[in-house]
Amino acid sequence: MTSLSTLSDLSERMHRLIRAINDRNINAKPGKMAPKIYTMKEAEPLIGRKYHTIRAAEKEGRLQPRETLADGRRTGYTLADINRAREVFGTRLRRGAGDDPIRIAVSNFKGGSAKTTTTVHAAQYLAEHGLRVLLVDCDPQASSTAAFGYVPDDDVNVSNTLLPLLDGEQSSLAYAIRETYWDSLDLIPSNLMLYNAEYGLAVEANKNPTALLRLLLGLQSIEQNYDVILLDPPPALGMISLSVMQAANALVVPTPPALYDIFSTRAFFSMLVEVVETLQRHFGEVDYKFVRLLVTRLDMNSETQQQLVELLPEVMGNTLMRHSVTKTAALDRAGMYGRSLYEVLPDSVPRKTWKRAVNHFNKANEELLLLIRQSWPSHAEVLREEGLL
Ligand SMILES: Nc1ncnc2c1ncn2[C@@H]1O[C@H](COP(=O)(O)OP(=O)(O)OP(=O)(O)O)[C@@H](O)[C@H]1O
Ligand SMILES: [Mg+2]
Repeated sequence: MTSLSTLSDLSERMHRLIRAINDRNINAKPGKMAPKIYTMKEAEPLIGRKYHTIRAAEKEGRLQPRETLADGRRTGYTLADINRAREVFGTRLRRGAGDDPIRIAVSNFKGGSAKTTTTVHAAQYLAEHGLRVLLVDCDPQASSTAAFGYVPDDDVNVSNTLLPLLDGEQSSLAYAIRETYWDSLDLIPSNLMLYNAEYGLAVEANKNPTALLRLLLGLQSIEQNYDVILLDPPPALGMISLSVMQAANALVVPTPPALYDIFSTRAFFSMLVEVVETLQRHFGEVDYKFVRLLVTRLDMNSETQQQLVELLPEVMGNTLMRHSVTKTAALDRAGMYGRSLYEVLPDSVPRKTWKRAVNHFNKANEELLLLIRQSWPSHAEVLREEGLL
């Protein structure tokens, strides 16, 4: 009994710690951080128009003019402002009517392989570039949910997670979607109770394998409102992960380039082959639009890792993403303020470290955006003209 009460005391203390860290970072209600503000210089390339064109549209009343502050400076732009400007100039990136929404699973059964970090940064990058994004937290550890300013076990009710859908009580996911403080980036949150889905699905799928299709069907019921859906699964081959594999139509597998991680990722792929074979036997062809390995947490000071990374393109060919993400202390620092690298507060991270880190995330995310666009027939002509197809 002593050990049980010690453990439960420990769990309660950890919960208080998380609450305290979160309360320090959140200035209003849970999940309600102030949206990021972009300067004109940052907004110009995102809007796809130069300063004078944007200013002219403001003067003509086609765009809401910026306010001028007491010191003469003009207020910046939120992503919502940028998206409005994109609509006015016709520069917003869109999925055409005949293009499928992309449902990307960021998967690896190995814990700590940067799945959540990859998913959150990809979601924010894609939203920043004008896409309508849904991030689905499929992991009872709920790290993606926490990244958007929630303490999952306090601020999220299990009835707003995937659980009712996976239990078969709901058939559409509309009930679970919530907006975030990023324009056009919605979230389906998670909390620890989602773990119950593992048991429920295991019992049911035995008699009725179609229970594994619930996530796919739930996503299909709402996907017309999105361009991209990102799925952040738990680090294990369980029923939720199986549902995610079936629900996805594209796969990104993040892996640190350390030997044990590479072993685990190899194990992941062999299990994946078996999983996909089983899924195909039950439900027909599983057809991923793209599958890519993404090297993350690359330690630039490690000679072994450098050697591995040099070897990888030769062996992996074009299943490897060309850009890797390096290991960076900036992520840890930003995390202490409850932020991603794209949300980081000025001065909370040394500028040079931050810039270098963001540059790596940007390159990998730019590549992901291109893969997405390459899968959309309506983008083919433009991409061909730009030599990108
Ligand atoms: N490029 C990076 N540089 C430094 N630290 C990183 C990097 N990417 C991820 N991390 C850190 O590694 C840890 C694990 O990352 P993350 O939570 O994204 O992995 P995960 O695969 O989602 O883990 P889990 O399997 O538990 O869901 C986190 O502390 C994260 O901040
Ligand atoms: Mg995770």
